[in-house]
Amino acid sequence: MTIDEKTAQDLEGLLAGGETVDSLYGELRSSFDTEKSALSSEEQLKAFRDRWAGRKNGLLTHANDHWLKKAPREIKPQVGRLQNETKKHIEAGLADAKTNLGQSKQAAEGIDVTLPGPPRLIGAPHPLQLVFNEIEHIFHGLGYSIAEGPEIESFYYNFEALNFPADHPAVDEMDTLFLRDGSLLRTHTSPNQIRIMENQKPPLRCLVPGKVYRNDTADSTHSPMFHQIEGFAVDRDITFSDLKGTLGYFLRRFFGEDTRIRFRPSFFPFTEPSAEVDIYWEGRGFIEVLGCGMIDPGVFKHVGYDSEEYSGFAFGLGIDRFAMLKYNISDIQLLFQGDVRFLRQFT
Ligand code: PHE
Repeated sequence: MTIDEKTAQDLEGLLAGGETVDSLYGELRSSFDTEKSALSSEEQLKAFRDRWAGRKNGLLTHANDHWLKKAPREIKPQVGRLQNETKKHIEAGLADAKTNLGQSKQAAEGIDVTLPGPPRLIGAPHPLQLVFNEIEHIFHGLGYSIAEGPEIESFYYNFEALNFPADHPAVDEMDTLFLRDGSLLRTHTSPNQIRIMENQKPPLRCLVPGKVYRNDTADSTHSPMFHQIEGFAVDRDITFSDLKGTLGYFLRRFFGEDTRIRFRPSFFPFTEPSAEVDIYWEGRGFIEVLGCGMIDPGVFKHVGYDSEEYSGFAFGLGIDRFAMLKYNISDIQLLFQGDVRFLRQFT
């Protein structure tokens, strides 16, 4: 009698004919295993699954209906357990057959699953971050600490407290972007001089990096958003020599010991005297890299510092410009496009 015939017969008849429940379920499993090992395609697997585990007509269901349900009361628990174990055996076997077929299919298609997958790109530090880290490192060695401030500023912090006269053209010159409520996107990091001095007493040495905004049309040297670092020091007896010494030391460490540096008189409302600093660049001549000066007594007045007792210097530089010089980048837009082919060059 085949296993199909046996599962179609009621248990009592089979037992009378000399079978035991163990031998019946044992044969059910071994038939399953034998057929399983002969499978070679997905279509076969599908038919095999229906034959064994089909809900209505599968052999498992037949065994359940003819053996378990018809089992005499005394042996019902034993038959129940065997039915259950066999069901698990078949389910596991079906899952196993599926995996095996999948693997041999990959092998037939020439897919070697042991080969490594395509490499995943790993992120790299942005050149702006690299430049900032280096500048931070240099100034850290000089005792400066790092602070940050808001990108949305008030007119007071961005202009008024920095000694810009009320009708100063700089408000336009700096291409300020105003918000509807009258606040603005800071046009420079200098408002942080005020914010920090308002809250702390000298001596102070601070470095404040951040994004700044100006209503500029984007091109290879302009961007409506760029990055600055504000630096300033306030203490007793700080002189212009300290300013020159500090910035000279910084620029030579950043651009190289032989860097030629030139201080050029300039004007900022919040520093007096003021200067712009140029460095000599082979093939380009002197190029401006930062603005600086001695903090104007009018600024100290806004934060309640006594300008008879304290003096200080401040400077501001564009991180983007420093990165472009250091890494020979000709288009500022590259810094903001997030193209990994560009960004990966700087690690
Ligand atoms: N805030 C000035 C600018 O954005 C730069 C500067 C900072 C000048 C500090 C002097 C002192 O142009």
